[in-house]
Amino acid sequence: DWTPDQFVESTVEGLKKKLGNDKVVMALSGGVDSTVAATLIHKAIGKNLHCIFVDNGLLRKNEFMQVLDSYKDMGLNIKGVDAKDKFYTALKGLTDPEAKRKAIGKTFIDVFDEESHKISDVKWLGQGTIYPDVIESVSVNGPSVTIKSHHNVGGLPDKMKLKVVEPLNTLFKDEVRVVGKTLGIDPAILGRHPFPGPGLGIRILGDITADKVSILQEVDHIFISGLRQHGLYDKVWQAGAILTPLQAVGVMGDERTYERVVSLRAVTSTDGMTADWAHLPYEFLAEISSDIINKVKGVNRVVYDISSKPPATIEWE
Ligand code: XMP
Repeated sequence: DWTPDQFVESTVEGLKKKLGNDKVVMALSGGVDSTVAATLIHKAIGKNLHCIFVDNGLLRKNEFMQVLDSYKDMGLNIKGVDAKDKFYTALKGLTDPEAKRKAIGKTFIDVFDEESHKISDVKWLGQGTIYPDVIESVSVNGPSVTIKSHHNVGGLPDKMKLKVVEPLNTLFKDEVRVVGKTLGIDPAILGRHPFPGPGLGIRILGDITADKVSILQEVDHIFISGLRQHGLYDKVWQAGAILTPLQAVGVMGDERTYERVVSLRAVTSTDGMTADWAHLPYEFLAEISSDIINKVKGVNRVVYDISSKPPATIEWE
């Protein structure tokens, strides 16, 4: 029978044999999979694992520093790279969702490639690929991959000529969480909602600017902290906010306003392949809506997405 302790023991043993004194480079995202994979590799080879965490300018509010700090606390050999401007430059003027994804993916590979070359003699690329990613990337599970080019599987190795090490590629998500728990990883990391690689870039409809990112970060922060405070965070699979290109009329005192419409999205799901919109309490939605409208400059209207997948994907782009 499979137990997490046995899995950790045999995986670490296997990694030691496989990697010897070789160096491994790995991109971390703050997500469950990459964190658990890195922890296993770190247990096997220590400082020979070089981790890179890229700030693509599309992360949640304060996330870069918080996640970087927690990786440091875990003893990982991690380098934070501020590449915000590179991403914003690559995204400038792009409005097509696939073009935006490709620009984000390509810029990420460029940044990662450049950083990896600063590490002498690196032989391996570590990845947090889990079993469903392996299946999805060969497109057995339906059209999601061809509709949206997910960039977290593949891509990197070809260009960098590194061998790939993927210690989680036989596990399902729930098993990854159990292994993470056995490894003593912070429950806050293990319980995190999925967050897409292109980040807020696919939640800002239309072109991306630093100003739009900061508006969306504020909105998202109010929503996510609200979910936590009301004990709702763990009841949904994923949640976030979307900045629409729509403007709507409002009144403030005697003034007429003409400002942005944001949408909140929260879904329940077991694997992300299908999802139902989360039936969040009206009182909660009311509180979050007025918080957002009162606190976030430039937003005067909040709507809630009540569409399920299929056909409506979790992300809007
Ligand atoms: P959709 O929007 O297809 O999303 O229903 C299903 C799950 O995948 C995430 N997602 C992505 N993750 N790169 C990623 O790493 C992407 O391009 C991407 N697009 C969607 C989405 O957040 C949800 O968890």
